[in-house]
Amino acid sequence: MNCSRYTISHRNFFWKRKKSNFGRYNIVMPGTVSPRLTVPDHIKKPNYFASGIPDKTNLPLEPELKNSLQLLGMRDSCKLAASILNKVEKIIKVGLKTDEIDQFVFNSCIENDSYPSPLNYNHFPKSVCTSVNNVACHGIPDDRPLEDGDIINVDVTVFYKGYHGDCSKTFLVGNVDNEGQQLVEATEACLNEAINICKPGVYFRDIGFCIEETAQNFGFQVIPSFIGHGIGYYFHGPPDIYHIRNNYPGKMEPGMTFTIEPILTQGDELIEILDDNWTAVTVDNARTAQFEHTVAITENGVDILTL
Ligand code: MF3
Ligand code: CO
Ligand code: CO
Repeated sequence: MNCSRYTISHRNFFWKRKKSNFGRYNIVMPGTVSPRLTVPDHIKKPNYFASGIPDKTNLPLEPELKNSLQLLGMRDSCKLAASILNKVEKIIKVGLKTDEIDQFVFNSCIENDSYPSPLNYNHFPKSVCTSVNNVACHGIPDDRPLEDGDIINVDVTVFYKGYHGDCSKTFLVGNVDNEGQQLVEATEACLNEAINICKPGVYFRDIGFCIEETAQNFGFQVIPSFIGHGIGYYFHGPPDIYHIRNNYPGKMEPGMTFTIEPILTQGDELIEILDDNWTAVTVDNARTAQFEHTVAITENGVDILTL
């Protein structure tokens, strides 16, 4: 369900009286998005680069079992995504615009002979997702400078030598209140707990049980509408990885690569998508945090590829 700027500002006005339950932070409104950047000719492009539509006929129907060569390709793209995310962490500070994060990620991808996967994926206009405070995910980088007390998720995906690697972290900007710090800590703990149960023979759905239980132990809710996914020469494919209790069939096998990317909220799980068709915000303006890794199932356990 979409909503206009008018209804959002109206809602924010209402909320100002109640938001103290969730701590001290500023509610984010979408800003101005700069023109699209041009990817040089020599960069290898994914199939949606020109059309904006990923080629669905090209997807595996079942979770794919990758051979050792394919796994090496995944390792390289995931390492690159993680290294760019780590460099982003070092430049995060009060006053930095999310558009500047986008330029930084774009340039880092090009310098490393890779394509920033979000760019024109289902018409997403930028190279990275930047989701601040009440933006749950898919925030579009714009001219809003980071403010003291913000929490920001930066989600970096690269397409390198034919493989996507996908990871995200939530960073603290300046002095974040205790409620915000706890939300971020709990979300990272959920991802780590979930990764720890992964090995051949475990149901994909066990990830959701683990994350929901861990989140509840910390006193937070999981946002169910966003799921992890299989990944490879495609950005999103089977299996679906639910982050709450679910009935999804299928077990992990060696050679599978997928993401786990829980979003936790301080408030209610309800989200809405803004008129830009991407930005997902919480209806109650509560803050959310998200962490994501791409993992590979091995003979005995699991490898985190995006380290
Ligand atoms: N990186 C996101 C994920 O974890 C997907 C973003 S889609 C985009 O799955 F188009 F916004 F990039
Ligand atoms: Co991602
Ligand atoms: Co992902």
